[in-house]
Amino acid sequence: MLWWGPAVDNVVLGVCGSVAAYRAADLARELMRRGCTVRVCLTESAEKFVTRALFEALTGQPCLIGAFEEPESGRMAHIDWARQAGLLLIAPATANTIARLAAGVADDMLTTIASAYTGRMLIAPAMNPSMYASPALREALATLASRGAEIVEPAEGDVACGEQGQGKLASVERIAGVASVVLSASHALSGKKVLITSGPTREPIDSVRFVSNRSSGKMGSALARAALMMGADVTVVSGPSSAPLPIGATIVRVETAEEMLKGALARVKDADLVIGAAAVADYRPASPEKGKIRREAGRIELEMVANPDIIAALASAAKKGARVVGFAAEPGPDGEAARVKLARKGLFAIAVNDVSAPGIGFDADENELTLVRADGGEERSGRRSKLACALWLLEWLGG
Ligand code: CTP
Repeated sequence: MLWWGPAVDNVVLGVCGSVAAYRAADLARELMRRGCTVRVCLTESAEKFVTRALFEALTGQPCLIGAFEEPESGRMAHIDWARQAGLLLIAPATANTIARLAAGVADDMLTTIASAYTGRMLIAPAMNPSMYASPALREALATLASRGAEIVEPAEGDVACGEQGQGKLASVERIAGVASVVLSASHALSGKKVLITSGPTREPIDSVRFVSNRSSGKMGSALARAALMMGADVTVVSGPSSAPLPIGATIVRVETAEEMLKGALARVKDADLVIGAAAVADYRPASPEKGKIRREAGRIELEMVANPDIIAALASAAKKGARVVGFAAEPGPDGEAARVKLARKGLFAIAVNDVSAPGIGFDADENELTLVRADGGEERSGRRSKLACALWLLEWLGG
């Protein structure tokens, strides 16, 4: 049945001119199997590989190509589609379209819809591996990620031009899976203020060296993106990390634990939900050298002093009714140590991840959380992407 009105599971699928364009047909079907209504917009180059007739037949919906097309007379299609979509998914996304999106160019129907669109966006690139590695493309993707777009990284393997490397469109199941995760996000944090600490801290030893840890900041980044998707007003106090933080959030960059404490304390009074995803260095060198420590002595001793417990300080300073939540990286699945930590820090709940399990936690793209609540309840996320874990956690905390 032809139907299109505002609905969360309306997907506008943008298809660009890549050899992988043929796989967008399967993707459209997979999204429909998952309950989505799919409308396809092709770029003119995509039409060299696939046709409007194919997508109209598959989806039972109109397919757009030219910037001035208007299938429903009197309605400006680019505005109509942008307003009514719950997700704009571009797969395959070419280097050219990614660059035009990042620059805000609107010179065909797909980029015009994108420029009028304010909702959730997912980009699945596909191209030659050298093109994918090019600095211009990396920058454009980073720009889109910082504006809140989710990127489904291409897979490694043989690409159509015969080269090997990262550039193959991710699998249809993977793209549809991420689309489902993004579409499933509720608006439970609408109007709420969320404060997140993220990434590692760096504690100077001298002017060129520091003590730090392996935190990538990916979980904090996923939490910030998820909280924005769920409608929150988000502030992230982040230690040094290359994980992309969304522009839609207020970002406070810090280096040391003491700076992180100061940055977060200054903002905690407003927050309804505070999440400590940072891997704070527990100790710092007692008296960092002003210059560079020289290699003269055969041995040096570094005196370390304890850093403040940031999340515990935030729990005491937060407004009444605010939920303050920590993370606990534990070297095993045992929830008992986490319960002790939760009580010691005065938290509402603590999200435990088992850092001894392979493929999750530090620097990984996936995680598996057990949410231990002060009221005694316990929930398990199962193994999922960090974004899916973040949404899962926020749904529990925001409700
Ligand atoms: N945390 C913090 N400030 C610190 C240490 C930890 O805010 N100085 C926060 C982390 O962001 C996390 C939680 O406390 O949310 C638990 O961190 P973890 O390193 O597991 O706990 P520690 O208190 O350091 O306990 P231990 O090292 O004994 O496991």
